[in-house]
Amino acid sequence: MEEKDLVVLLNEKRVFKPSKKLVENSNVMKWMKKKKIKSYDELLKKAEDIEWFWNEAAKETVKWKKPFKKILEQENNYSKWFNGAKYNIVFDALDKHKNKTKTAFIWEGEPEKEVRKISFKQLYQEVNKLANAMKKLGIKKGDRIGIYLPMIPELPVAMLASAKIGAIHSVVFSGFSALAFRERVNDEAAKLVITCDGFYRRGKIIPLKKAADEALMETPSVEKCIVIKRTAGEKVDWNEKRDLWYHEIIKKEKPECKTELMEANDPLFILYTSGTTGKPKGIIHDHGGYAVGTAITLKWVFDLKDKDIWWCAADIGWITGHSYIVYAPLILGVTSVMYEGSPDFPNPDRWWEIIDKHKVTVLYTSPTAIRMFMHFGEEWIEKHSLKSLRLLGSVGEPINPEAWMWYYKFIGKEKCQIMDTWWQTETGNHCITPLPITDLKPGSATKPFPGIQAKVLNKEGKEIINAGGELVLLKPWPGMLKGIYKNPEKYQKTYWEMYPEIYLAGDVARVDSDGYFWVQGRDSDVLKVSGHRIGNSEIESALVSHPLVAEAAAIGKPHEIKGESITAFVILKKGTEISENLRKELIEHVGKEIGKLARPDEILFVEDLPKTRSGKIMRRVIKAKVLGQDTGNISTLSNPEAVEELLKAK
Ligand code: WTA
Repeated sequence: MEEKDLVVLLNEKRVFKPSKKLVENSNVMKWMKKKKIKSYDELLKKAEDIEWFWNEAAKETVKWKKPFKKILEQENNYSKWFNGAKYNIVFDALDKHKNKTKTAFIWEGEPEKEVRKISFKQLYQEVNKLANAMKKLGIKKGDRIGIYLPMIPELPVAMLASAKIGAIHSVVFSGFSALAFRERVNDEAAKLVITCDGFYRRGKIIPLKKAADEALMETPSVEKCIVIKRTAGEKVDWNEKRDLWYHEIIKKEKPECKTELMEANDPLFILYTSGTTGKPKGIIHDHGGYAVGTAITLKWVFDLKDKDIWWCAADIGWITGHSYIVYAPLILGVTSVMYEGSPDFPNPDRWWEIIDKHKVTVLYTSPTAIRMFMHFGEEWIEKHSLKSLRLLGSVGEPINPEAWMWYYKFIGKEKCQIMDTWWQTETGNHCITPLPITDLKPGSATKPFPGIQAKVLNKEGKEIINAGGELVLLKPWPGMLKGIYKNPEKYQKTYWEMYPEIYLAGDVARVDSDGYFWVQGRDSDVLKVSGHRIGNSEIESALVSHPLVAEAAAIGKPHEIKGESITAFVILKKGTEISENLRKELIEHVGKEIGKLARPDEILFVEDLPKTRSGKIMRRVIKAKVLGQDTGNISTLSNPEAVEELLKAK
């Protein structure tokens, strides 16, 4: 047996059982007792009746204004859940809490002195004021609202206000560039944009309004831009016809606003994510199914109770933040921590300080963050007690067993189970994940959530175990995407073409003999850099948009902290001289086109790139060569000699 296989086997055999106390007190166990379900296996088995299970989940989480007629209708790979129900997610996320003085968000600004506590009642009033102001600007049900904001409380306010009046929000991560924001705003033809003057990042102010101004130079659909004043006086340019200060327009508005009664299937938001082509796709989620899916998973996986202090340390600009900072915690009525800044600013113990200060009980973060903290060393952790923590979570990329063990030992003090949750922008909520009653294996996301049926298939569509294959979901679930905005062909092609009527996740995974899932990563055309999803071809398109670049190929290399790093091979236009300045310029160019997160770590200049006879660049071959792996049969390439040349790249 090879050493590699031995390591795999050892990991598979290493099991971490939950304590009896955790199991007995867990939300899921209490529910199982009510339903007379005796074991985890029985729960999974019973939930194979998806209509029964998801209706039960809905009863645990939401209140329809009018009951649904049919729980599930399927047509042409689109699923309608709870069809006929009258609903708006805002009823559960906000309106039902309107009189509560309990804190909804504890917000920590990056500057340590800035802390705000916002009660459910205050949140309700603030949302209503903005919703009224938006109505006065002529925003109606179905209009798209482009939101370009950092981690400030006004971001959830803007999302909820849009949802309240039936508009569709589309949040763009504040780290994306002006051009990336413009592309999204134009794709969805947003009528209104909401942004802020600037925000803090590592002690500096990032001038976001400036980026928004640049984006809005070519966005014909945008009529108005609401600007939040986040900083103490960052100067901004002002377009009198278009721009409005948030604090001025909400000043005169009433703190009450009627919530628009929607269909459960009406769209709630669009969130753009990367796929295999150069253009990001707008994933659509709805009000009803999404509410049920996110709330039940948060309630059962992270076991949140009334007294918990929950911290999902993601950015709201990504799906993790939409689902588990904004909607699900609000539906459950729990208190969340929200942090504006960088994890290591001013020191690498900023997070641990926040946990002790606010007595956080459940922390949810990414493997990249965990590996970064490992790298800083344990001395930063030992200064803090972290004794309030009772459960931990991981998301966004595979967690390697070493990082898992470190997280378990140094953050969880060997007392906290780790919920490694596998899911996607498209799935809306956790799909493969432990529950507090699940035995854990470090590095495995364990088993499907009840009501989700996952398998690993080979190319022929046959189920396989103990070998890598395509991860698929066999049955629909309420939180699943409801389409790709204005692109039904792409929806069919991306998710439903490879195996008819089966959802293709686009990940490679393995199931072991105990039925545990080990997700290995994306298949070759999407990168995960620090947990951020970036299409290889997005980086390539950005590079070839530079006047001196003829062709480009971007690949991911394993990286100790970030999971993957980006290496781009570039063929320059004839006669262009290679220089260090040009290399830097190209890296910055990608930053300008997409955002800092997509800047290549390495640019290598080559004369040629391996291609098929039809001219397609073979990233797979390039990657294998660069990593010293078997390149497979290259005799069918039009230029096999280009493969060896890669190693001579400058
Ligand atoms: C990866 C993030 C392994 C996976 C919620 C998936 C994971 C992609 C895990 C979706 C996990 C997410 N273990 N891989 N626990 N969670 N992934 O859309 O490749 O940003 O397809 O959603 O992240 O990324 P997205």
